[in-house]
Amino acid sequence: MEVIIQPDANAAALLAARLIAHEIRANPHIVLGLATGSTMESVYRLLVKMHREDKLDFSLCRSFNLDEYVGIPPEDSHSYRYYMNERLFKHVNIDERNTHLPNGMSHDLVGECARYENTIKRCGGIGLQLLGVGSDGHIGFNEPLSALRSQTRVKALAPATLEQNAPYFGGDKANVPRRAITMGVGTILASHRCLALATGAHKAEIIAKTVEGPITSMITATALQLHPHCTFVVDEAAAAELKGTEYYRWIFANEPEWAEYR
Ligand code: GLP
Repeated sequence: MEVIIQPDANAAALLAARLIAHEIRANPHIVLGLATGSTMESVYRLLVKMHREDKLDFSLCRSFNLDEYVGIPPEDSHSYRYYMNERLFKHVNIDERNTHLPNGMSHDLVGECARYENTIKRCGGIGLQLLGVGSDGHIGFNEPLSALRSQTRVKALAPATLEQNAPYFGGDKANVPRRAITMGVGTILASHRCLALATGAHKAEIIAKTVEGPITSMITATALQLHPHCTFVVDEAAAAELKGTEYYRWIFANEPEWAEYR
């Protein structure tokens, strides 16, 4: 795992977007794993800008989102399908037929989860998985006690997640769907590369636990310590409780692979 500390949230989002653009240019057929949440909004804004101004080409890319609420139709503005269409897909040249999210409206949710997992495998697996970190340390909607080898399935959302996502549902956590389909921790760990992004002082405690704490299913983001190629991009505020920052900064300042991002 590598931790890259940027001065502020804008710089962190820019570095993440540049890294994604680099991977797309290196492999135009890349399978992207995409995330939602407020942290990703600026990353998608920057990718749209790169598409418009620097001809970043999504035409051969395929994408799979981490998760989708159960019972919210795709045309509903609260759905993650709607979020992705509005913030990224509509504004770049990705073929909508190559963009995948779990179908939270399926009458056979178990079958839908198996189908989603198999479609990822049929596409050759995820090349680059983008990740945010929830306030309870979840990745996707892998809530505390999610098996670290879990596959795509339905999860009941934890109280902290209902709280975190309430602002999107009129500020009332009673309006937040109780369940979601999510890629499993095992699905995420099977991706070729992971890129996690976290910004803001409210993420400082969970980022310290995620990066430097013991691996535990109580904080599923800690499973990323097992991933062979995982990069965390954080801003100073989210890095505030990390103990090893001197070393992380040294790596970023000196290792040749980061030269073009410094
Ligand atoms: C939701 C999503 C997660 C995301 C998290 C972080 O819970 N299911 O995939 O990582 O939000 O949200 P934010 O970026 O708003 O902090």
